[in-house]
Amino acid sequence: MKPSTLEQLCEMHTNLSSADIQIISEVASTLPMYADLLNAYMFIDCKMKENEQAIVVAEAFPRTPEAVYENSVVGKVVFETFEPGVYYCYRTGKKSIMHRALTQEGKMVEQSVVPIKNKQHQVIGALIMEAEVMASYSEKKQEPTHSFGQKAMSNLLANTMDEYPVISDLLMEIFLLTDAEDRLVYANPSGVRFIHEISQTEYIQNEPILKLLPFLDPILNQQEEVFVLELTLAQKSLEVKKVKLRNKKNELQGTLFIIQDLTELRTKEKELMMKSVVIKEIHHRVKNNLQTVASLLRLQMRKGFPLESKSHFEDTLNRIFSISSVYELILANDNADDDDVDLIELTRKIGSTMVINDLNQKVDLIIEPNGNKILTSSRKAVSIALIVNELVQNSIKHAFPGGISGEIHVDFFSSKDFVELHIQDNGVGMGEAGYSLGLEIVHNLVVNDLAGEFRYRLVERGTYAILTFPLSPEVVIYYEKTDSDR
Ligand SMILES: Nc1ncnc2c1ncn2[C@@H]1O[C@H](COP(=O)(O)OP(=O)(O)OP(=O)(O)O)[C@@H](O)[C@H]1O
Ligand SMILES: [Mg+2]
Repeated sequence: MKPSTLEQLCEMHTNLSSADIQIISEVASTLPMYADLLNAYMFIDCKMKENEQAIVVAEAFPRTPEAVYENSVVGKVVFETFEPGVYYCYRTGKKSIMHRALTQEGKMVEQSVVPIKNKQHQVIGALIMEAEVMASYSEKKQEPTHSFGQKAMSNLLANTMDEYPVISDLLMEIFLLTDAEDRLVYANPSGVRFIHEISQTEYIQNEPILKLLPFLDPILNQQEEVFVLELTLAQKSLEVKKVKLRNKKNELQGTLFIIQDLTELRTKEKELMMKSVVIKEIHHRVKNNLQTVASLLRLQMRKGFPLESKSHFEDTLNRIFSISSVYELILANDNADDDDVDLIELTRKIGSTMVINDLNQKVDLIIEPNGNKILTSSRKAVSIALIVNELVQNSIKHAFPGGISGEIHVDFFSSKDFVELHIQDNGVGMGEAGYSLGLEIVHNLVVNDLAGEFRYRLVERGTYAILTFPLSPEVVIYYEKTDSDR
């Protein structure tokens, strides 16, 4: 089959694998549908391999007469100054909403960007929705398009108000309806409350709306038949929608205002943002404090200590390092939405920072993910880090006495319900040795924290430890691509 433009562009300009390009193509095939549904412009941008810029690989335009984009932009390079949302999304893996941006053609649009991720949670593209800001309907000399809902609504408001409570009485939103002379003829209960609060006026019925709510002036005087504006009033964030109501002869009957109080939503958004900043800061402090403790221990070691305590100091240092590895990974991972830790990366980190007592030791640590990518919450990751540390350390410390060489294998396996971690060495074996503090720690953490099992498999040579724990919302597996996927 002939490769599409999208595939050609991706292959030529990006580092995406064919599986990633497949995902992008699938998303791209849905763009025309969403463009029509949302009356918006849809694009997919991908990071280029040659430089830090992104390239447009797919687009879809709504079928409307007025076009923001006169020409196709596929194949064009996107610059950060024009489209910060795209770059924000790439850097953080998070969505960016309603950033105002200039299109390459120089017009104002509102833009929402969400990352497209592959199974490994990597951002492989940015999906962009753009809608022109305050698209003007009135210039277009068209019949205003009332939906059946709006018609029924105005009928309800105009005819049956006295007999039945209208639906708008039950809504949280503020509904205000004026007549053709801009006098208030209807307000739902939220509206009445709102006007009383803002204007401190007792009698509001049939009063000029601008006398009651002067802040509506610029909105009412807008030419547009439909107009939406977000504004701040008396420390409230309000979204005001205005709809001009016309009869069949196109004569103005009145104006409907729908006002939504977004204050709580905006406050929550701010709180959430603060929360993630605070959590990051706490992780930083935990990591720094652990490093201080480690430094104190090292200082103590340098000051001298009885030789028989040396290995205890080292054991403790390694335990501290394995915990701080978890925090280092969380902090290094800007892409994650939360504080998930990649177990394989964690194991590699522990292996590389481990303090080894005998520098002459020729022991290889081989870590084999077996196609798994296992993400765990930071809480579980701390336990797993300590367990891996104890077991690998045991192999290094006890399996190869007298500087004999050998290998330590750490293998990750997964099934539908479980993760299995195999740690084996080809050393001298455990013999009849009993548990000391190290294995005590392992046992406690496995049973109490991971709700898992720990056992040794009988092998001819060396030791073979197996740790099993269940998958849960805190332990998730992503299968990495195998050769057959390529
Ligand atoms: N991979 C291994 N190869 C050989 N012997 C081992 C291995 N793992 C553990 N052992 C034996 O099991 C014993 C108990 O291990 P455990 O980790 O509980 O204590 P430790 O390593 O001696 O001290 P620590 O409490 O600092 O870990 C060890 O002393 C050692 O004799
Ligand atoms: Mg030990």
